[in-house]
Amino acid sequence: MKTITKMLIAGLALTLTAGAVSAADPEDAIDYRKGVFQVFKWNMGPLGAMAQGDIPFDREMAGQRAEQLDRVADLPWQGFIEGSDMGDTDAMPEVWMNREAFDEAASEFEQASARLAQLITEEASERDIRRQIGAVGQSCKACHDDFRE
Ligand code: HEC
Repeated sequence: MKTITKMLIAGLALTLTAGAVSAADPEDAIDYRKGVFQVFKWNMGPLGAMAQGDIPFDREMAGQRAEQLDRVADLPWQGFIEGSDMGDTDAMPEVWMNREAFDEAASEFEQASARLAQLITEEASERDIRRQIGAVGQSCKACHDDFRE
């Protein structure tokens, strides 16, 4: 009897631990999504500068940054969990109030980013690549206008 009780308690403890691990802490979720957005910025910085003519067009660097951006393009959204609308965040309440429009803006960006990576692979003209970088930048801005303080 004693052994069974011990086993039941051990089983319960395991279940509780597993539950605690799977449900993310809102503060961790905020840190996580901000971290991914910093990765966006790291990659978009030189791309934007090339599109604007602030630095010379460098096909190799453009390819590397565009490919990296596309690889992480769908990562931030899972960080916008319930309860993470408050705290150290610039996300507007609209993210949670109007989730469909937010998801739509995320999808617009992902498509623009995928198209840019595709143009690079296809060795498209500098003109087309620069124009698509502009489209990606627009999709960042469109979402920030509606969902970021
Ligand atoms: C679908 C919406 C959406 C798209 C698309 C989007 N962002 Fe954001 N971004 C946000 C929101 C919301 C925040 C605020 C996050 C927070 O503070 O919790 C944010 C925050 C940021 C931050 C600040 C992170 C920090 O450390 O506080 C940077 C930098 C950023 N975005 C860059 C970009 C770039 C560059 C792109 C495009 C390549 C982009 N974002 C695309 C919604 C978006």
